[in-house]
Amino acid sequence: MLRPNLTTKILVAVGVTVAVVIAIYTFFVHRVQSEWWRERTQAQNVITATMVHEYITGVMLSDHHQEVFHFLQQLQDKNEIWRGRVIDINGNIIFSTSTQEVKHATLVTPPELFQEKRLLHGVRFEDGQQLTVVMSPIQSLVSCARCHDAKQEFTGAIVLERSLEPAIATVTRNRNLLLIYGALIFVIVGVVVWMLIVRLVAQPVNNVLKQMDRVRAGDLTARVPAQSHDEIGRLTEGFNTMVESLQNTTEELHESHTRQIQQAGKLASIGELASGIAHEIRNPLAGIGAAVEVLAEKSSAQDREIVGEIRRQINRLNATLRGLLDFSRPSEPEIVPCDIGELIKPMLALARPDAQKTNVQIVAEYSADLPPICADRQQLQQAILNVLLNAIQAMPNGGTLTVHGEVLEKPNQTLRVTIRDTGVGISPENRERIFSPFFTTKHRGTGLGLAISRSIVEKNGGVITVESEVGRGTAVFMEFPACKQEVCNAKK
Ligand SMILES: Nc1ncnc2c1ncn2[C@@H]1O[C@H](COP(=O)(O)OP(=O)(O)OP(=O)(O)O)[C@@H](O)[C@H]1O
Ligand SMILES: [Mg+2]
Repeated sequence: MLRPNLTTKILVAVGVTVAVVIAIYTFFVHRVQSEWWRERTQAQNVITATMVHEYITGVMLSDHHQEVFHFLQQLQDKNEIWRGRVIDINGNIIFSTSTQEVKHATLVTPPELFQEKRLLHGVRFEDGQQLTVVMSPIQSLVSCARCHDAKQEFTGAIVLERSLEPAIATVTRNRNLLLIYGALIFVIVGVVVWMLIVRLVAQPVNNVLKQMDRVRAGDLTARVPAQSHDEIGRLTEGFNTMVESLQNTTEELHESHTRQIQQAGKLASIGELASGIAHEIRNPLAGIGAAVEVLAEKSSAQDREIVGEIRRQINRLNATLRGLLDFSRPSEPEIVPCDIGELIKPMLALARPDAQKTNVQIVAEYSADLPPICADRQQLQQAILNVLLNAIQAMPNGGTLTVHGEVLEKPNQTLRVTIRDTGVGISPENRERIFSPFFTTKHRGTGLGLAISRSIVEKNGGVITVESEVGRGTAVFMEFPACKQEVCNAKK
């Protein structure tokens, strides 16, 4: 298919417009000039007729009637008339430059010529040419009664014919000149418009297109040199700004990606190191634990308190080791359809004693008909428990812990569990770090709880986010896509 470019389209539009304007202008000028020349020729004919009238009046009285014919002939020789005639009131030709018709032919005169007593003129065709005709009645004078009927008001009429061909030739020549000038204007306008489009539009747009191709090929250093301050200039500027921001975003993304990879690498090595250390410590710790148990049996009542403290510290070490191992080597999730209510209930039961100690009220708000999610039951319970314990620990002076379950109609059905507390809250600078392993603000914390929770939630296809305000409390959101049985089976 023919696909004309912008330059061709504009040139065609301008060309057609200029051609139409020139054609209309030429047509009207031609019409006006035709009219003007016809009227001018007629006016000249009338003047000549007046002259002949004067001449005839004089000559007729002097009895040199034949002079009239000579006078008409002279006018014809000077191209003042094409044919000249003098007729009587019955139309009989008395004198004529066409001698053969004298006294042999009769002209049919319009009745108004002698009735209305005025000069008549019109146009007729003869021998393939246009003639302007003027008929001027000759008034009867007293002296005319010698030869003419004294009762008649007119003795006859002068009939002059003048060719319109010279006028038509002039008008045609002028029209042709106009057309030549029009063609010249057409070419000049075309060239000027073409140069303007190329210089002001096509070239700058092509420059932008070239740079766009470079950007498409992945070269984000492509820029269009600024050329003007008009719309094209603004387009260029917009393009440059867009590519610059694309370049910055890409660089930022690249940097962040690199950082993430480095972080992931670091975490992986920390995880490996941690799990190695955990294994190394776990066995001697088990030995210490067993030895402490033996000591506990033999210890005095005074030493039992010390042994109890050793036991508590061993348990804490064990918990840290378990966390480390969970974080560094999380087992693959065993995906099954889970009812979120059933998952949360036992975790709330586990957390309740701690909550009671610090006077924390637990409120559970979720309906029984929430859709199931596909997840590893045990892992998810651990993730929820970590968040529940954090919430309780954030309210050392009491407060309310609310667990809320709801369905969000995002593009796909999503189940959201919110664990909200009215505790101390998290400062903005700490909020960035709470999911990092080993970040803790607690005296006895490992800083692994939220890191493990996030790793579990993400492994189970969910997202975990936090909103918090210092002094007012924290809300942790866990979102999972609600899933169907067959998807669950497919995930397994
Ligand atoms: N609900 C909460 N309110 C206030 N701060 C919180 C809350 N949840 C987490 N945090 C902050 O995030 C930090 C990291 O939490 P995370 O659960 O990972 O470790 P931890 O609770 O300190 O230690 P552990 O979980 O081993 O007991 C906490 O030390 C605390 O500062
Ligand atoms: Mg915790």
